[in-house]
Amino acid sequence: MHTNTNSWILKGMICYSKSKEELSVMENGYLVCCQGICQGVFPSIPEEFKSLPLTDYQDALIFPGMTDLHLHAPQYPFCGLGMDLELLEWLENHTFPEESRYCSLDYARQAYGIFTEDLKASPTTRAVIFSTIHSPATKLLMDLLEDTGLATYVGKVNMDQNCPDFLREADAHAALEDTRQWLKDTMNAYRHTKPILTPRFAPTCSAALMEGLGKLQREYGLPVQSHLSENLSETAWVKELFPWSSFYGDVYDRFGLFGSGKGNNAPAVMAHCVHSPREEVLRMKEKGVFVAHCPQSNTNLSSGIAPIRSYLEEGLFIGLGTDLAGGTNLSMFRCITDAIAVSKLYWRLVDQSAKPLTLEEGFYLATIGGGSFFGKVGSFEKGYEADVLVADDSLIPRPQGQSIQNRLARFIYLSQEKGKLIGKYVAGRKIF
Ligand code: GUN
Ligand code: FE
Repeated sequence: MHTNTNSWILKGMICYSKSKEELSVMENGYLVCCQGICQGVFPSIPEEFKSLPLTDYQDALIFPGMTDLHLHAPQYPFCGLGMDLELLEWLENHTFPEESRYCSLDYARQAYGIFTEDLKASPTTRAVIFSTIHSPATKLLMDLLEDTGLATYVGKVNMDQNCPDFLREADAHAALEDTRQWLKDTMNAYRHTKPILTPRFAPTCSAALMEGLGKLQREYGLPVQSHLSENLSETAWVKELFPWSSFYGDVYDRFGLFGSGKGNNAPAVMAHCVHSPREEVLRMKEKGVFVAHCPQSNTNLSSGIAPIRSYLEEGLFIGLGTDLAGGTNLSMFRCITDAIAVSKLYWRLVDQSAKPLTLEEGFYLATIGGGSFFGKVGSFEKGYEADVLVADDSLIPRPQGQSIQNRLARFIYLSQEKGKLIGKYVAGRKIF
């Protein structure tokens, strides 16, 4: 009855978040997956699952896959450049010129080929991705992502003002027509790859464009991604461009691009939220907006430090993002340790009441936190989609008798030198 390649049992040192504060651990445990869905973690194989194929990973660590809630696929080729600039200068000098190259499908094939191969090998099992304004290259990226087996949302970017001629949609009407066609072409074309509406950020989107995107959102019930309150020059600019707005996020909300409330199945994800005023935070909570916290990008572009502790206390939906190429590192392990590191600086330098993130909290944000954007994702509890990483930490030196918790912590911090991912599954599908 369970014979299906997405039905299996993995054995090993199993670890997942029981809550934000606590890990659940089972040594030599059995993770059971039927038709892509976790049935639970057991000390021995329950009778009803005895017929499933078993992979014994022995001493390796087995934990949930990670969701990268915000990154830009076309920016991968210039990772590490322009890191002496702030956001608006970096966009103008590096980002826009590079993104304009994706009008060439040949260039896109080469660059996206490298990106998707590296993403496949990374700790990321799910991702929410920006492409560029170019529909053909965006479809190509979606084809390549589909082939990896990862689960992703991909957004053709919309921008029709305050950007160079070489990277601007002709006008709102043309942008909306093109976006509608792209949606029709991609909405039902893939199994694991879905479109997401993507106004780049308020400054590069006319009111007419956002109005039309809001209509598309309602017509198709689509999720939305954008940037919010990342940088001080940016927030001041938004106030100038949209003087009627109460705060930055109010612009998106006015056009129906800010989620539609708790429990909606088409939420919005907003990257950064470094400088969000209190009213903005409350609106995000009311609308069920996901915050994509991008600590490395916020450091590289001198944007600031998002007050993640207060967002956690407020009960916002929060995940982590690499924000390539504001962030220069594709690894969600690095993203976890960066989130922890900047939370310590915030605590020491800005707000002594904002306790730093713990490793357990960082791990939670990277797994369940961001995974929730996709539904029941990021845990091994019964009913969750089976997204799994298998990690060999045998080359990371360790004293005898280390706990699974300590081994996981050291893998997250040290894997880039000596750790190795030896298995990856998304909704039960074996990626490698
Ligand atoms: N705001 C608008 N576009 C971008 C982008 O490409 N990266 C980042 N980090 N912020 C943005
Ligand atoms: Fe970004």
